[in-house]
Amino acid sequence: MSNEPTKMWSGRFREPLNRTFEQWQRSFPFDWRLLPQEVAASKAHAQTIAAAGILTPEELETTLRGLTLVGERAINWSNRISATSGQVDYETSDQQIGAAIVASAPQAEDIHHFVELELTKEIGALALKLHTGRSRNEQIATDMRLFVRDAIDSTLTGLRDWLLALITLAEKSGTAVMPGYTHLQRAEPVLIAHWLLAYVSMLERDHSRFTDARTRMNLCPLGSGAIAGATLALDRTIASKALAFTAPTPNSMDATSDRDFMLDFAQAATTLGLHISRFAEELTLYATSEFGFIDLPEAFSTGSSAMPQKKNPDLTELARGKSARLLGSATALATLIKGLPLAYNKDLQEGQEQIFDVADTLTGLLSVLPNFTRALTFKPEVMTAAAQTGYLNAMAAATYLSNKGVPFRKAHEIVGNAVRLGLEMDPAKRLELNEIPLPELQQLSEDFAEDFFDSISLRATLDCHDVIGGTATHRVAEALTAAKTRVAHLISSVSSEDHVVA
Ligand code: ARG
Repeated sequence: MSNEPTKMWSGRFREPLNRTFEQWQRSFPFDWRLLPQEVAASKAHAQTIAAAGILTPEELETTLRGLTLVGERAINWSNRISATSGQVDYETSDQQIGAAIVASAPQAEDIHHFVELELTKEIGALALKLHTGRSRNEQIATDMRLFVRDAIDSTLTGLRDWLLALITLAEKSGTAVMPGYTHLQRAEPVLIAHWLLAYVSMLERDHSRFTDARTRMNLCPLGSGAIAGATLALDRTIASKALAFTAPTPNSMDATSDRDFMLDFAQAATTLGLHISRFAEELTLYATSEFGFIDLPEAFSTGSSAMPQKKNPDLTELARGKSARLLGSATALATLIKGLPLAYNKDLQEGQEQIFDVADTLTGLLSVLPNFTRALTFKPEVMTAAAQTGYLNAMAAATYLSNKGVPFRKAHEIVGNAVRLGLEMDPAKRLELNEIPLPELQQLSEDFAEDFFDSISLRATLDCHDVIGGTATHRVAEALTAAKTRVAHLISSVSSEDHVVA
């Protein structure tokens, strides 16, 4: 028997672990990312057990200092890497830091074990006292909550930035129009600003979904022990306060095995991803020569190695594709939780990489979408022309007749006949409703008069939608002002004190 255990749990074992199994079950190769969270949670626990008399004030101070040193390791690694490789791109440097940290501790089973081993190097045997009254089951539950909370906060920041970009673009588009589509067939004209504000509405809902998830998850599992609660009478509010949680979790069995907060995050991310994919799909279409509504910003497009003329919408295509992996992660997490008996089961370790991937995917998306949106330029002449062909004023025409007292169903029928007339009157060119001579229209209904043509002008067709949420010019101006106020409120209500885990 060796005197120094290499495991956190080797006491009852006589046989060594199968080497392959040992490597296969380790989570350190990916959970090293939880180093800042593990250090913060360990500091909070140290304060709790010091208050219970397990650590003297001096021991607490030494432990906290040691933990700070261990926490700074990631920064040291990154400095060492940037010193050797010069410029560091944040994506690759993250991977390099991880690889270096993992390689530095081949015996560490997981991030909890790693911190304990490193702390022992810093402060000696005192480090082994830190595990008094706690279990890795509550630690991982806490670390993941802290990680998800940070990920939510940066998602919310990114969302607000994108909201601002959409609102600015909507303002810039003024009263320019575009065709609105249903079934991807031209339906009615809308203001470009109205179309953009549809995405503002979606993102505001996303913002509130992430905020809700944050509120629900912001409880502290520390003190829940392995399953039944800490084995010491700890004051759980100490750690909860230190980590800026609102309160300790109310049930130890739930707290050590609950991963709903991860699912909430992944599901909110999925819904956001779906919205992103709708936006990306529309822009991909609108950038085609067939639509020709937008000019893709070159800074956010790519070329083809084969076809010299190409400017490809890779940004919107990738953005559309990212929704697939977000949904994949949410599905994996839901499947992981399904049928899992209380309380902790090692299956839960599988959820971590899903969450890391969701967080990274959102970070990536929200790092490009706001500036891409700011760089977008429309071709208003093409969009206006498209909004004026294809009988997009047919509903306004039917409304004209119904305002004259014709029952709407009948008015619909008459305008349908007028459309048919326009399609067939001149074999060389289809006629829009405003191009059909009045006498021809009057054959369909004597209620058509000279004022009909004004009532189906582009502006009149927009402005007849004079309801809250409609595309009438002044309604959109009001909606834009209201959206600006709401987003400004979201920005001003961000509390800076939430960022405890740096
Ligand atoms: N690496 C583990 C995880 O992520 C930490 C908890 C281990 N707990 C245990 N009882 N083996 O789930």
